Amino acid sequence: MAILVTGGLGYIGSHTVVELINNNYEVIIVDDLSHSEKFILHNIEEITGKRPIFYPFDLKRKELLNQVFDAHSIEGCINFAAFKAVGESQVKPIDYYENNLFSLINILQEFKERNISNFIFSSSCTVYGQADEMPINEDTPLKMPESVYGKTKQMGEEILADFAKGYNKKISLLRYFNPIGAHDSALLGELPIGIPNNLVPYVMQTAAGVREKLSVWGDDYPTSDGTAVRDYIHITDLAKAHVAALKKLMNNQSADSVIDIFNLGTGRGSSVLELVKAFETANNVEVPYQICERREGDITIAYANADKAEKELSWKAETSLEQSLKTVWEWQKYLQSRSN
Ligand code: WQD
Repeated sequence: MAILVTGGLGYIGSHTVVELINNNYEVIIVDDLSHSEKFILHNIEEITGKRPIFYPFDLKRKELLNQVFDAHSIEGCINFAAFKAVGESQVKPIDYYENNLFSLINILQEFKERNISNFIFSSSCTVYGQADEMPINEDTPLKMPESVYGKTKQMGEEILADFAKGYNKKISLLRYFNPIGAHDSALLGELPIGIPNNLVPYVMQTAAGVREKLSVWGDDYPTSDGTAVRDYIHITDLAKAHVAALKKLMNNQSADSVIDIFNLGTGRGSSVLELVKAFETANNVEVPYQICERREGDITIAYANADKAEKELSWKAETSLEQSLKTVWEWQKYLQSRSN
């Protein structure tokens, strides 16, 4: 019996595949390599001693996906495969709706036809928009996200809730806050493809001299130091939450539909400048920066109430911001050694 991991060579996917293998699951990866590279598969094998079965194709190719389900006895899916650049989604909306939703529906068609349950969806705290109160709970009212990327996440959640109710399926919606960090082995991390959209990869490349200086998007927010606050969660902690969520679904013998929802964060907020300082201190490096105008669509503050995941999944983020940022620097040094 196997677990299908779509986008399994991506940043969060690859770290989750390692934790699945460490928990003795058989893993089938489908990844179109649009946001990853084949060497990640080799590094997963180096870390775990096992090489997952890997199919390099786009999930919109229904006929190829059908062959995978014919060839393997799949008992669950963790669906990471999606485009995720907030800014890009604004200028390529139909590409984002097509890719993120068609691929999801293709998998659900197979689940429906073959009566498979246990579906874990990679969602995001972006579905809350700017929440009125902190910390953010799972029953905090959702707001229409500003970005097309965020809308595809919210629509994905709606599709899955109807799938669970319509066919008595078990699903888990995992709302990530801000994933950061790299694997302790420094063999896995966030692969920089083009100019990084997210803060931590940009900080990493600035410290390494790949970028001249970091633009801090706004210091006039109503926060302690004027810069925006987020909940930065270490990637391996996040990966472990996926295994715990999968185990919960698979251990639930109920014949009824199950719709789990979990906020996955540390419960602590850090400002942009606090993160920059933490990176410099953790790695004894300098990160030159300049204060710029706010970025369109950014919210002021978001951090999780992760009590529900702690209670129902027996899971808690264990890694400090500084420790996570140390793994980022080790990953950057590994990438530089590969390019030499
Ligand atoms: C964090 C903070 C920026 C870059 C988004 C998605 C979320 C998740 C993570 C996709 C903000 C500031 C950033 C820079 C900066 N999914 N910043 N200079 O926007 O909180 O979340 O990415 O991966 O669903 O919504 O993350 O890392 O882009 O920004 O000042 O060069 O850092 O303004 O305050 P965000 P981020």
